[in-house]
Amino acid sequence: MPNEFYITPDGPCFREERARILVVDDFDANLELMTAILEKEGFRVIASKSQFEVLNRVKELAPDLAVLDVMMPGMSGYELCRRLKESFGKKFFPVVLVTGLSQLEDKLAGLEAGADDFFSKPFNSREMLAKIRSLLKLRRLQDELECAEDIIFTLAMTVEAKDKYTRGHSERVSALSSEVASMLGLAEKEILCVRKGGILHDIGKIAVHEEILHKKAKLSLGEVNLIRAHPVTGFEICRTLSSLKNILPVIKHHHERWDGGGFPDGLKGEAIPLVGRIVSVADAFDAMVSIRPYRDGYTVDEAVRIIKNEKDSGQWDPLIVARFIEMVESDITFVRNLYPG
Ligand SMILES: [Fe+2]
Repeated sequence: MPNEFYITPDGPCFREERARILVVDDFDANLELMTAILEKEGFRVIASKSQFEVLNRVKELAPDLAVLDVMMPGMSGYELCRRLKESFGKKFFPVVLVTGLSQLEDKLAGLEAGADDFFSKPFNSREMLAKIRSLLKLRRLQDELECAEDIIFTLAMTVEAKDKYTRGHSERVSALSSEVASMLGLAEKEILCVRKGGILHDIGKIAVHEEILHKKAKLSLGEVNLIRAHPVTGFEICRTLSSLKNILPVIKHHHERWDGGGFPDGLKGEAIPLVGRIVSVADAFDAMVSIRPYRDGYTVDEAVRIIKNEKDSGQWDPLIVARFIEMVESDITFVRNLYPG
């Protein structure tokens, strides 16, 4: 709803009342009544009697919410609801169904089709408007959340793109981590967590000056401490977004070590969140294979050997390293594609 802004003396402000409401009903009288009520409240109304036309032109019409009659010839409101939801993909698109029926079965069918709310005919216009406003508010909040999350991801990629030594590092860590997570049999939610966490794990480096990150000479203690602060800095940046809550353990704990020798908290063994342990192995592996200011990169085979030795000396979770090596050995093409040349 990026165009649904108007300017108040206090600055830009969203007005749900300026939203575009799609109304689909096969009866002219119903369409006219609904249009009159919504327009009186300042909404912009797209009224249609044709479900097929609506589906064909939905991108162009760009509605913010739909009010659909359930009983329509050709295609029911349930089916139209399902198809509209599909056409918006993951983006939240609120749909309200208008039904003459109030049986539980009909509501269940509506919920199965993805409807967000219902009202029955004859409808109470105040109740209808309250439901519409509340769904539009929800949609705006979701848009803002998505936008904030996008900004943080873009920020992470921009920070990385500026550094020739770490370019592509986060994407590779993300790909390796999610592969290992699925080999460990983790749930989709946890796989997504390491995938996103892999992208964001080093976002705290935004607070470290490039000169320090690129320094070839030995770092001073103060500089080392600055770099070692990046997991906590990243945690602080991302904790403000509730949608990133699951990823916080990855960001904060991707430098912990199985034997307790890592940072920031010196956590040991299973006290380190599993998602953090997965990303830490992938992060270390990628750092070894990549060229850094102070050394050339190792080959994949050399890096595997080093990780194995470090596991034997207690640095890594043995189970995760076992799956990691299994992944490298069973799908060497996937790994080589990540490290061409
Ligand atoms: Fe890091």
